[in-house]
Amino acid sequence: MRSNFSFFAVTVLALFIGGCAAPEPPAAPPAPATEYKPTATIKEIMDSMVDPSADVIWESVATYVSAKGIEEKFPKNDEEWAAVRKSAIILIESSNVLAVPGRRVAKPGEKAAEPAVELGPEEIEKLILADPATWTRLAHELQEATAPVLAAIDKKDAEGVLYSSDKIDIACENCHLKYWYPNQGAPAAAPAVAPEVVPAAK
Ligand code: HEC
Repeated sequence: MRSNFSFFAVTVLALFIGGCAAPEPPAAPPAPATEYKPTATIKEIMDSMVDPSADVIWESVATYVSAKGIEEKFPKNDEEWAAVRKSAIILIESSNVLAVPGRRVAKPGEKAAEPAVELGPEEIEKLILADPATWTRLAHELQEATAPVLAAIDKKDAEGVLYSSDKIDIACENCHLKYWYPNQGAPAAAPAVAPEVVPAAK
């Protein structure tokens, strides 16, 4: 009994001395994941923010041809311009939402809708984690593509919205081709290059 006690005392003493001699551990760098609290998945961000707001922009200015003739659709008053503007803001900031580290691609158990052409969420996550800088760059390209659209909206320049919103589509496709369906094979035709149309100066 007594010898056990001495062994315990010596061990405690050794730990104490060892503890005093050890250098101060360096302060741990803040883990990026604790700065943000991503809860929605990338899939949910696509469905709730990215896709609906891009649709509002793409559908805001259009030309419809029917038996009744040609109908030009564009925002006609302050209220309609304000609605398109809200979508442009959501789209621009969704780029930062996508860039938040630690966000899951999909909920556990969710699978690719078309596994023949699409990568599954786990495979997409692996690609993102292997090269986070490329993911962030492609997310920010969505913001850069939408900025000229916002500028055109602020000038109430419907033609400018029409021409500049093509670039948004290219930003979507660039990311989807890298992460979502990279194995879909070469497109039948060379991807169309958006013509550089300079809207008439107002
Ligand atoms: C930075 C990368 C990135 C950008 C930019 C991006 N997406 Fe996505 N998107 C993804 C990934 C990754 C998926 C696959 C995730 C999934 O659905 O499992 C996806 C999936 C989707 C889906 C399917 C969602 C579902 O329910 O399965 C839609 C719709 C979509 N994107 C629309 C868009 C549109 C429209 C744009 C441009 C305005 C866009 N995305 C821009 C990465 C991106």
